Amino acid sequence: MGSVLLVLLLLLLSPSYPRGGSARSRRGARTQSPGGSSHPQFWVRLSPDFKAVPLGGSVWLNCSSSCPLPEGSSLRTELRRGETLSGPRWVAYQLLDVRAWNSDVHCFVTCAGETRGTTARITAYKQPSSVILEPPVLMGSDYTLRCHVTHVFPVGFFVVTLRRGGRVIYSESLERFTGLDLANVTLTYLLPSRPGDFGQPVTCHARLNLDGLVVLSSSAPVTLPVPAWSPASIALASTSIAACVGIFLVVGALCLRKYLSMQPPA
Ligand SMILES: *[C@@H]1O[C@H](CO)[C@@H](O)[C@H](O)[C@H]1NC(C)=O
Ligand SMILES: *[C@@H]1O[C@H](CO)[C@@H](O)[C@H](O)[C@H]1NC(C)=O
Repeated sequence: MGSVLLVLLLLLLSPSYPRGGSARSRRGARTQSPGGSSHPQFWVRLSPDFKAVPLGGSVWLNCSSSCPLPEGSSLRTELRRGETLSGPRWVAYQLLDVRAWNSDVHCFVTCAGETRGTTARITAYKQPSSVILEPPVLMGSDYTLRCHVTHVFPVGFFVVTLRRGGRVIYSESLERFTGLDLANVTLTYLLPSRPGDFGQPVTCHARLNLDGLVVLSSSAPVTLPVPAWSPASIALASTSIAACVGIFLVVGALCLRKYLSMQPPA
């Protein structure tokens, strides 16, 4: 063995959904109608203008304006609405059960006959239910490290990392998995054994990075078992340390609810 590098990729996920792109990239223009000289200038603000919400969670958006006497204020969204609160120059809307990846929400305010609007983007995410690293198995001169990450969303924004003694030994971005269902991920890595590794702790980490919001889940540490070393296997292992790396990645889709409203309304 030694020089064979095998990258096996099994994609069980339906590839039919296009990526929503970066969470902020398709944010709408802030002002949708230009100010005319016959109307007073006023601004409309939707706050926050970006929010990542745990899957199924709710969020409040506050639509405010500088209009002294708004004639009307409205919200356009595909998300389910909850309560509404209002004050002199603002209306706060509660949105419930957020499950869509990248949902645009528009607020419009009419002032002295002129209507202006602004857009906020709401994104749902799901922290893994569990990150489990199986006890390493030594086969020949390689340890098999198998990490299971369950119930993640959106899977393409996760990075799975393996660490030995605190140092990164392997990191894999799941960005090529574009499905928008809850997913299970299994990463299998062949780690060439070295004499100094025995008893070292190994951990597996799943990290989600959504436009500044970072969610990190880690496995419990497992230790690399001591093998029965023979002089021959030591020689073999030392020649193959850099060369023999195999990755086996499986992502399974969980078809719970496809709550797809990625395309913002035209
Ligand atoms: C909404 O925003 C306005 C203007 O910033 C503020 O005065 C008001 O208290 C906010 N309302 C809520 C419910 O946060
Ligand atoms: C994902 O993992 C969970 C927990 O192990 C399991 O109950 C579920 O059936 C798995 N789903 C898929 C699609 O593999």
